[in-house]
Formats: sequence, structure tokens, C-alpha cells
Amino acid sequence: MKLILLGAPGAGKGTQAEIVSEHLNIPTISTGNIIREALKSGTEMGLKAKEYMDAGKLVPDEVVIGIIRDRLAKDDCQNGFILDGFPRTIPQAEALDRMGIVIDRVIDIEVADDVIAQRVSGRRVCPACGASYHVDFKKPAKEDVCDKCGDTLVQRKDDHPDTVKERLQVYHDQTEPLKDYYANCGKLVIVEGQEKVEDTTKLTLAAVEA
Ligand code: AP5
Repeated sequence: MKLILLGAPGAGKGTQAEIVSEHLNIPTISTGNIIREALKSGTEMGLKAKEYMDAGKLVPDEVVIGIIRDRLAKDDCQNGFILDGFPRTIPQAEALDRMGIVIDRVIDIEVADDVIAQRVSGRRVCPACGASYHVDFKKPAKEDVCDKCGDTLVQRKDDHPDTVKERLQVYHDQTEPLKDYYANCGKLVIVEGQEKVEDTTKLTLAAVEA
């Protein structure tokens, strides 16, 4: 199964990707996580991407297309994969088509902007292992401490309210047109993402298995 998860920043793509990945035993490829890892390692690409990411803008298409081309060539992608956060522009979707990748399904997780703001402002992440929590909806066992590795949780720089507003604007301008792009080829399934995580998961798994 080759799957794309679409949705606004904070819609729950990462949360659902983790569950579907385990369910289908296929890897999740998150361009956001790959860029954050590159930044942590101080690579040239990571440093270049930082200014875009911190400002809530998209990293240039050619950079993320290169990342995806290299990642999809790896052995663990041969039986399928979940793309979380790619494509995010029409040129990125066209580049994926040109790579000869045939996507089976595109799941769009729909959440209203005001709910997004609440979710993203409460998100806390582990800087060491990347695990993600929420101060109300997914609390760690001990406040501000990662359940998986014990590091202190932090707020992502791009989760501050002004940057979230910019990310939502970028989403509506540049990413939302992908819904029509994939609806036109009959691959789009819309999933209601406003309710509890387990409700969204039921709908997402039903969309995957349909
Ligand atoms: P990226 O890391 O991909 O961020 P994003 O798409 O903005 O997505 P998020 O990680 O913010 O949210 P999510 O939808 O995964 O939600 P989550 O499950 O965590 O990208 C970051 C940046 O990298 C971009 O801005 C850009 O600069 C760059 N970039 C990446 N890809 C790019 C590309 N292709 N092209 C160009 N630039 C690119 O959930 C959010 C919170 O809500 C969590 O705390 C979670 O616990 C909670 N939650 C989830 N579901 C529910 C629920 N149902 N009810 C209550 N709480 C919930």
C-alpha cells in the first residue's frame, strides 16, 4: 500500500501515520521529521531549511523532492509506505508522478483552523527521540518527561501561535489544491479529524482497507 496523508499542520497526520504504519507494517516517511533530523545533525540541507521552517514557510520544492527521491529508493519502501507531509505543493505531486510512483490512496484528515490552533499550541515533543505528546490529549506519564527516553519535552519553535497562523495560510494557499489534484484521479478519501484520536483512527483504517 502506497499512501499519502494530507491535512493542515496539526491535523493529526503524524498521530495517524504511526498507527497505520504499525497496522500495515510499512514505514512512515515524514519530510518534517527528516528535515528536523538534518537540522539536529547540522547538515547543510538542515541549516538551509531552518529559516523556512522557523518562519512557517515551505522548504523549497527541489530540496524536499530530493529528500523523497533518496528515501523512496531504500529497500524498506519496496512493499509500500506512508507519506506524511509530502507532497505539499502541486509541483511536488507532479514530481512524485514523474518518479513513476503510483499512489494507491490519499487520505485527507479534515480539521477546522480553530481546533488546529488548540492542538498545536498544546503539543510537546521530545528533542531526543521525536516522540510527540499533548498537554491535554496525550499526556506523558510524568509531566514534561518523555515516556520513551526520559528526555525533557519541548515546544516546537514553529508551534508558536504567530507561526501557526502562517503555516495555516501556507496550507490553504499551497497544499489544499492537492485535494482536487487527487480527487480528479479518484484517489482522495476525506476523513473527519475533529473528534477523538481513536475515532479518526477508525475512519482512517476503514479508508485504508476499503
Ligand atoms: P511537519 O513536521 O510535516 O509539520 P506539519 O504538517 O505542519 O504537521 P505537524 O507535525 O504540525 O502535525 P500533524 O498533522 O502530524 O499532527 P500531529 O499528529 O502531530 O512540517 C514542518 C515544516 O517542515 C513545514 O512547515 C515546512 O517548513 C517543512 N516541510 C515539511 N515537509 C515539507 C514539504 N513537503 N515541502 C516543503 N516544506 C516541508 O497532531 C498535532 C497535536 O494534536 C499532537 O499534540 C497530537 O497529540 C494532537 N492530536 C492529534 N490528533 C488529535 C485528536 N484527534 N484529538 C486531540 N488531539 C489530537
